Parts: sequence; structure tokens; C-alpha cells
Amino acid sequence: MYISDSGIVNVTTSPNIAIIKYWGKINIQEPINPSISFTLSECKTETSIAYQLCKSEKADRQFIFQNERNTHFEQKLIKYLDSLTVFLPWLPDFNLKVTSKNNFPHSSGIASSASGFSAIAKAIADIHEKVSGKDLSVEDISNMARLGSGSACRSIENGWNVWGKNNILQKGNQHYAININSYIHPIFTSICDSVLIVKQHEKKVSSSIGHQLMTNHPYKEGRIRQAHQNMEYLLKALEKGDIKNFLEIAEEEALSLHGLMLSSNPGYTLLVSNSLAIIKKIREFRLSNQIDIGFTIDAGPNIHVLYFEKDSDIVLNFIQSELFSLCNNLAIHDHIQFD
Ligand code: DP6
Repeated sequence: MYISDSGIVNVTTSPNIAIIKYWGKINIQEPINPSISFTLSECKTETSIAYQLCKSEKADRQFIFQNERNTHFEQKLIKYLDSLTVFLPWLPDFNLKVTSKNNFPHSSGIASSASGFSAIAKAIADIHEKVSGKDLSVEDISNMARLGSGSACRSIENGWNVWGKNNILQKGNQHYAININSYIHPIFTSICDSVLIVKQHEKKVSSSIGHQLMTNHPYKEGRIRQAHQNMEYLLKALEKGDIKNFLEIAEEEALSLHGLMLSSNPGYTLLVSNSLAIIKKIREFRLSNQIDIGFTIDAGPNIHVLYFEKDSDIVLNFIQSELFSLCNNLAIHDHIQFD
């Protein structure tokens, strides 16, 4: 009945960092505004899934993360796989054992859910090909990743990806990300991201709660307008190689995201005093040295320093001499994966 009854598939994916932020959902896991991100290169998730035709009534699901069984995530995985059964009717007939590893620390300011779910979606697509003999499109795989974690849909293809309907890119879609590498000016194929790990602990308020708080947020409409406007400006900057505008938009988006958290009901902040001290130093350094450097921030206190390969020596020096004391000497130096 199936072309293959058992086997194992292995995939590797990378997290992504958003420059225009996805914050707030509508319908089933659709974004309230479009977002743009690039995938990282050194940070990786490696996932393998062993599949086997099930002899008993109920298929078994196991999840092993960093060599340990994670029964908490297994519950999430079961729900996730159930949500995919409409596209992949073979799923309930197979036992699946998912083994996953990240080469970057948990709660490091790099969203592991994006690389985690993009890897699971890719591996499931590989199994689909083996058991049914049919390929899935990148759009289908991105859509499957989105159902696990919204930002994961932007980690199926490398480089720059856009998710969400917008007025600039006709192909923009609520269900999957589209790759925009062919529009990108060469300077933006050499972007670097050094994540300064100001604080490593589990976040006090999860992103799921943050997304929910956008539903009745007093600034929701303004935020949606801002994201669409920034999409237009950012796509122009990415095409023209306009670094100055790029950095301005990246910082505005990061601070708006954290402003939305502060002004939600209940309000909260994930930033700590060292996050703000680092931002101040980056801005002062840019002004006095005329270096193309800026920052973005994910849903956490850690600062992503953005710069370009051409300036990496001077920026890495600056990070070491001026910023390391504000992040316990903890940093992950990464750059875009563009191919
Ligand atoms: C701040 O994709 O982690 O990183 O869809 O609930 O899994 P879920 O949320 P998630 O949210 C990411 C939010 C963000 C911005 C972004 O990556 O665009």
C-alpha cells in the first residue's frame, strides 16, 4: 500500500532573524502583518525522523531533544502532526521518532522554534516522498512549518524571505513565505548578526502570549500600518543597497516590537538595563565612527548587532572592547546563509 514502510530521514535547517517583525495573529496561525527575515548560517538544527508502519491501533510519537526525551514537546508534536493529517493522510499509520539537536544554546535570543519546526516540516516532506512517491512544493513545506510556528515558514529557503500578504509583492501569502533573494543588492548578501547574550534565562512572557495580547491592543491598527509602510521602505532599501535606511527600519521595528509589549494589557518588558546600554553604545559608535552598524531584537533581552562583512574586523573589535562587559562575554557571531 505504501512505497516505503520504514526508514529514516535527516535534515538540517537554520533559524532566521526578522527585520520586519511578525507580532499578532489572525485565523489559524496567520500573521496580522507581513514580515521579512534572513536565515542564519552557523546556527543549525539537525533533525532526523525514523518512521515505521504502525502495527497497533494508535501510532507512537517520540521526541528526543539534545539527547533527552521531551514528553512536554511530544504533546505539542502530536497536535501538530494531527493538524497535518488533512494534507498527509498516511501520518496516522506511521510511528514517528523525532530526534533533534541545536548547535546553539536554548534561550540565547535565537528563536529555536523557527529552525525546529522548519526542520520537522522538511523531514515530514521527505518521508511523504518516500511513502507516497510524491513531492511537496516549497510552498507546501513552508505552510506546514507555519502551522508549527509562524516564523518557521521563513526558514525553509535560505536568505531573505517574506511572509504575509502585502501591497508590494503580489506573491506575498498568508500561508507560506516567498523567497526574495533575486531582488537583493549584493551588500545585503554579506550581512552579519552577532547576538549578544545579555540574559539566558527562560522568558517571563512567551511569544504565544505576546501574539495574543495584540488582539485587543490599543495600537494594533497603527502597528499594522507601520509594518506595511516599513515593508515598502525595506524592500526598496534591500534592492538598492541602501544601508542607512535598512538600519533605521531594523531599529524602528525592534523598538516597536518592545514598545508593543510595554503598552499591551497587561504590559511587560523583556528588555533589561544592559539591553538598553548596548543599544546606546551601538548608536554612539555609529555616529562617531561612521560605521554601518545597527541592531535588531527578537522577543527577548538579547541584542542582535547587525553589520556587514566589509566592516567585520572593526565591529568585532568594538564588540569585544565595549560591549562584552554588558553581556558576560557571551556572544554568537553569525551571518546570513545566502545561496
Ligand atoms: C518576535 O514564530 O515564535 O520572533 O507562531 O506562536 O510560534 P508562534 O510565534 P513565533 O513568533 C516570532 C515573533 C518574533 C518576530 C518574528 O520572528 O517575526
